[in-house]
Amino acid sequence: MNPTTKTAPKTFHVKSFGCQMNVYDGERMAELMAADGLTHSANADDADLIVLNTCHIRERATEKVYSDIGRLRKVAGKQGRAPMIAVAGCVAQAEGEEIVRRAKVDVVVGPQAYHNLPGLVARSVAGGAAIDTDMPVESKFDAMPARRRVGPSAFLTVQEGCDKFCTYCVVPYTRGAEVSRPFAAIMDEARALIDAGAKEITLLGQNVNAWEDGERGLHDLIRALDKLPGLARIRYTTSHPNDMKQGLIDAHRDIGSLMPFLHLPVQSGSDRVLRAMNRSHTTDSYLRVLDRVRAARPDIALSGDFIVGFPGESEAEFAETLRLVDAVGYSQAFSFKYSPRPGTPAAEMADQIAPEVMDDRLQRLQAALNRDQQAFNAATVGRTCDVLIERAGKLPGQMLGKSPWLNSVHVIADAAIGDMVRVQITAAGPNAVTGRIQP
Ligand code: 5AD
Ligand code: SF4
Repeated sequence: MNPTTKTAPKTFHVKSFGCQMNVYDGERMAELMAADGLTHSANADDADLIVLNTCHIRERATEKVYSDIGRLRKVAGKQGRAPMIAVAGCVAQAEGEEIVRRAKVDVVVGPQAYHNLPGLVARSVAGGAAIDTDMPVESKFDAMPARRRVGPSAFLTVQEGCDKFCTYCVVPYTRGAEVSRPFAAIMDEARALIDAGAKEITLLGQNVNAWEDGERGLHDLIRALDKLPGLARIRYTTSHPNDMKQGLIDAHRDIGSLMPFLHLPVQSGSDRVLRAMNRSHTTDSYLRVLDRVRAARPDIALSGDFIVGFPGESEAEFAETLRLVDAVGYSQAFSFKYSPRPGTPAAEMADQIAPEVMDDRLQRLQAALNRDQQAFNAATVGRTCDVLIERAGKLPGQMLGKSPWLNSVHVIADAAIGDMVRVQITAAGPNAVTGRIQP
């Protein structure tokens, strides 16, 4: 590329795809660019620098990045502009230089190297493309500016990477080995988030319940956070069934600010499929964990992740997944068609399932999960709970927030964003409930 065609960007926009950890990384990249003197632009279509913070977990997510780049260029072209494009996140890590070859982007930066984003942008302005997909030993978090302004519900990444190597999953390759951030650094960031307006903190990690610092486990971290003045709610996601230690389960009984919600992916209800997935748990061990969690916190809302159409999955094995769903009664859940990912063992397995079989299974699974979500919402009618107001609703006077069980609550209230209000739930829909303010 001719170096004289590029000028240093003045405005930027970050667009995040995929998981909550990407949302967090996107916020941190935005803070980094702002600290570097760039102005945030609310709209990607008028920014000088567009950062696409990508997800590699399923094929569609990857292809979307390339089509997005094409679309952004087309819109900019019509305005006579050629914005710089940086690809960050897990597609950047997995595809590296290939993205520059295929889409001629300016910067490619992996999830462990984004503290170098301002330097990479400067390098690219000086000429050519700049790529950094290193997994450095020093922590990117140490190089980040302090948190300034956040919403009432904030994310805080405490753990990254995965050592579990489920046979379908790219995460161990794109995010690297399991690494826990130090206790003190997390506490400092939590205090900064509270000062910046957070009332609720969701601790994030690919295997958040594997977090450790010396003798401390996640429950010790939660106990310490619970003592911070100004923090009303604590959540954590995503957990692995095998890392659900008794201390964490006890925390659900003992700590009022730890919300009664647990996202615990199971993926399949068939032990043979779970073995082929290398999940290292069985349906029975999973259900026993849930029994212990429910004993500690009877009103806990449960969520999960499912994959249908894993190579070799028979109709009978899929039916076992439906039976597991019936047995648990999830309040919400995510379900996906299996997507072969390059470099993962399952992509090489025989007996890949036909797309129309996957479509059919996904539809049946989602029908069961929707039914249970609706039933869960209906069962909250009549309960009174705290709702953390997160934004204004569509109707006049209507505000939107979350219940302790993480369902969305619509309420007509004279309340501000960040207020905690007492609400009686009066009606339930498939995706949200409605409530009335309690005096
Ligand atoms: N295909 C489909 N779904 C996948 N997930 C992870 N890898 C794949 C894949 N190759 C799902 C799992 C995981 C969630 C984050 O994404 O259910 O828990
Ligand atoms: Fe992927 Fe399995 Fe690790 Fe979850 S536990 S990130 S599904 S390898």
